[in-house]
Amino acid sequence: MLGGMTIIAVFNQKGGVGKTTTVLNLLAAIARRGQRPWGIDLDPQAHLSHVFGARPRRADDSVYAFFARGAPLADVAQITRSGVVLCPAHLDLAKLDATLGKGMDEVTRLRQALQQPGTTTGPVVIDCNPLLTVLSLNAVFACDVLVIPVSSDYLALRGALELERALKAMEPVFRRRLPRRYLLTRYDARKTMSAEVVEGMAKALRADEICTTRIRENVHLAESPAFELDIFRHAPDGRGAADYNALLDELSGAGFVA
Ligand SMILES: Nc1ncnc2c1ncn2[C@@H]1O[C@H](COP(=O)(O)OP(=O)(O)OP(=O)(O)O)[C@@H](O)[C@H]1O
Ligand SMILES: [Mg+2]
Repeated sequence: MLGGMTIIAVFNQKGGVGKTTTVLNLLAAIARRGQRPWGIDLDPQAHLSHVFGARPRRADDSVYAFFARGAPLADVAQITRSGVVLCPAHLDLAKLDATLGKGMDEVTRLRQALQQPGTTTGPVVIDCNPLLTVLSLNAVFACDVLVIPVSSDYLALRGALELERALKAMEPVFRRRLPRRYLLTRYDARKTMSAEVVEGMAKALRADEICTTRIRENVHLAESPAFELDIFRHAPDGRGAADYNALLDELSGAGFVA
């Protein structure tokens, strides 16, 4: 952990697997327990920022300013209704892949900043776009644990296995095995596909790196972003809230969240 604050990156290069849903509700779960977590939106689509009601008009008011001209993260941070400090995204983030390059200095920018004591006020959760871009690499290099959502379908599992290979290739740079947790999302016990993905994960991945928590298919989780609400505000007594609380318990139990 850097400066005592956990950094969790949520990534899978497959799109639509529940990355943003997981970041949103993990942040909200942490905030509800009395901490002031930081959310960093590195996806040019800015879905997380939207749900939090943050829509910076100028790229310079987003995390773009941090990458493009080294502005302190605190300069673009804003507090949300969920009690989360958010560094919002902007469409211009998509330009950074062409301008920044992928050298060690560029991919460790976020890590360098978050390593400075006093940068954040609590655990950090980073949302990524579904491509291994310079921004996602910044998230991977900055994190203490990588959470990889795998939705209950074949392509999401394949994305996870591709990522596993990419992480293996990066290991000489990390000089250790990067802590990671695969998280099954949109799980439906009645569906054969869900059972097949459970089986496929068990076959191809390390058992201790698969979350015991499964995020079940849940309509409230799907509809809450439309109301700009996290699951604890939208349906506090439902299964979605229970599942994301369980995920936080599991990550805390493993020592990833203090
Ligand atoms: N457990 C769930 N039950 C039902 N719907 C879900 C669940 N998790 C996510 N969804 C829905 O699935 C869709 C994709 O989820 P989400 O946006 O979190 O994925 P993502 O990985 O961030 O996508 P992208 O790669 O585009 O950033 C959304 O419509 C979301 O509401
Ligand atoms: Mg997303």
